[in-house]
Amino acid sequence: MSTPYGPDEIAALQEKAKRHLWLHFTRMSSYAAADVPVIVRGHGPYVYDQHGKRYLDGLAGLFVSQIGHGRTEVAEAAARQASELAYFPLWSYAHPQAIALADRLAALAPGDLNRVFFTTSGSEAVESAWKLAKQYFRSIGQPTRYKVLSRSIAYHGTSMGALAITGLPGIKEPFEPLPAGGVRVPNTNFYRAPEFVSADETAFGVWAADEIERAILREGPESVAAVFLEPCQNSGGCFPPPPGYFPRVREICDRHGVLLVSDEVICAFGRLGYYFGCERYGYQPDIITFAKGVTSGYAPLGGMLVSDRLMEPFSFRDRAAGGHEHHRQFHGAETAADGQHTFLHGVTFAGHPVSCAVAMANLDVFEKEDLLGNVRAREGAFRSTLEKLTNLPIVGDVRGDGYFYGIELVKDKATRLTFDDDESERLLRGFLSHALFDAGLVCRADDRGDPVIQLSPPLICTQEHFDEMEQILRAVLTEAWTRI
Ligand SMILES: Cc1ncc(COP(=O)(O)O)c(C=O)c1O
Repeated sequence: MSTPYGPDEIAALQEKAKRHLWLHFTRMSSYAAADVPVIVRGHGPYVYDQHGKRYLDGLAGLFVSQIGHGRTEVAEAAARQASELAYFPLWSYAHPQAIALADRLAALAPGDLNRVFFTTSGSEAVESAWKLAKQYFRSIGQPTRYKVLSRSIAYHGTSMGALAITGLPGIKEPFEPLPAGGVRVPNTNFYRAPEFVSADETAFGVWAADEIERAILREGPESVAAVFLEPCQNSGGCFPPPPGYFPRVREICDRHGVLLVSDEVICAFGRLGYYFGCERYGYQPDIITFAKGVTSGYAPLGGMLVSDRLMEPFSFRDRAAGGHEHHRQFHGAETAADGQHTFLHGVTFAGHPVSCAVAMANLDVFEKEDLLGNVRAREGAFRSTLEKLTNLPIVGDVRGDGYFYGIELVKDKATRLTFDDDESERLLRGFLSHALFDAGLVCRADDRGDPVIQLSPPLICTQEHFDEMEQILRAVLTEAWTRI
């Protein structure tokens, strides 16, 4: 398909973008002398710019486009819903698409995560989970629990509460003071494990999990509400959990009455070959936060899946269902007001009818095309294709699971020496980000931890796309090495 944009329109887009549009997390001054990249359409795993140039979307937009671009059946579901009922709030009312989607997500989610609270984004989902944890503990007579543990360098969103949970000092500092209660624990970057556990991944996992327990004890268990963890941590470049890590974390949380929140804004909806990342790694969270892939980006939606026992103080059904007993067992606290509480939280567009209809159509595509099966069948090939890059001097580590990978770049492979700030700035912002895009690959060159390239392609990708990623990365990383 030819691009609809002629030279005048292209020039006008540039001028207006530079004059009026504010790109997120973007140094706008870098576009003073360069064009703003403008993506105008997408089809399958490819997107196209205003000149008609094609790019492989190796990041699924921003970890979003699971089913790929240009799916008319999903667009049509959105149009049908907008004609039928474009908007009605979930404040006191329900609508059929939110009901259907909540029912479907509860059926897909593991264990007793049977209640869905919708939001519009991942940050709002994380924010909501912290608020729920706080209000839940108040309602069961443990009002001193408000702190949240999360891992170093982990990204959990940008709203003030979510930012307090985020573990990236650089993006928090301008907004201090943030809400009190964010506590950091180590992440699971085995490539940079402390020396005493660097030869044994299981021992590393035990140490990293036990650091969570040590932090809970240090803070005082009675003050800790929740631990927020991604199944596979994105920021820093894909840190899968070491063997045994999550079961141990689950035990620690139970021992101290702390909630385990699985932040699956990226890892849910097939990214790791399962509907939910916790299923892949075999643990049962108390809350799952989700967004992104639930709609594959055809409309914005986020939310949290909440366990029956957390819902109990807010519910009318669980007494009859026997949940009350479960609640007493786990928390020991009896409250006169069970079932009497209102979760004092909401946002106007949460569970938007069009977004819910889109999510239903998106999940239909997952089922029809067995996208989870595709990821599970091909993830080994994806890994081994990317691992070919380890023969380049700049590639220190290739890590991840499913369709979710980080490639760590180093200055010296033998010593794992990383780049200093200046080198990183020149390498990532000065060269790699533009060079990879110019070579036709959308991916992310990130140095919020050590410098990494992040890949998270649509779940429809096959070997030809893995090869295309590998070839572009090989050429550009080879060139980068000559520029250090
Ligand atoms: C793990 C995690 N949590 C929360 C968020 C925030 O989501 P959003 O950008 O939709 O607010 C993100 C975004 O990338 C994320 O990766």
